[in-house]
Amino acid sequence: MAKLKVSVLVSGSGSNLQALIDACADAAFPAEIVQVVSNVPDAYGLTRAEQAGIPTAIVNHKDFDGRESFEDALQKTIEGSGAEFVCLAGFMRLLTDGFVNHWTDRLINIHPSLLPAFKGLHIHERVIEFGARFSGCTVHFVRPAMDDGPIIVQAAVPVYGNDTPDDLAKRVLAEEHKIYPLALKLVAEGRTKVIDERVEIAGMDSPSIALNNPQS
Ligand code: GRF
Repeated sequence: MAKLKVSVLVSGSGSNLQALIDACADAAFPAEIVQVVSNVPDAYGLTRAEQAGIPTAIVNHKDFDGRESFEDALQKTIEGSGAEFVCLAGFMRLLTDGFVNHWTDRLINIHPSLLPAFKGLHIHERVIEFGARFSGCTVHFVRPAMDDGPIIVQAAVPVYGNDTPDDLAKRVLAEEHKIYPLALKLVAEGRTKVIDERVEIAGMDSPSIALNNPQS
């Protein structure tokens, strides 16, 4: 079967991008990254892509008058690559409804909390401040509202009393690197279906297993 052609959008270090690159290196993986785009010219994610021989593009939001002209350029860049699907991997720009709706159910994001809890920024600080006993990460289809959309895969981690935000970030990030490739695999295999804004996964008997301890 033809592999799903994916564009990955980054703004920073790109460790999630690296997890996707590593997964795609397996000939049996159902997706291929055809392009990496960054809005930050010196994002390390671009270096990771170059090292893996993946074409890169920079669309710097600072070069544009407003969000819409920036997104027009972004859209053209993505379409020019032949990508059919977009993964946000630490992409730090809010996207307009127009862009998000164009890519409905073909655009996914990873967020370092158990959504719908702790949307936005400074997640790990807030989780600790709040005294939450568990945190985690979520891969979800993107909807116009921030950090909103049908959940594909989640992983949970404990929060310990003496955790610093960095400790927690590291524990969560290790799980992010597992669930992002898994979510992309499920989508690329055509096993995910959004019904009433919930994701059903073909071949998985129990959605609760899919959410807590996903099995491929
Ligand atoms: C990750 O924590 C991701 O969940 C969030 O931004 C961070 C990006 O890290 N959206 P990296 O660039 O993938 O290393």
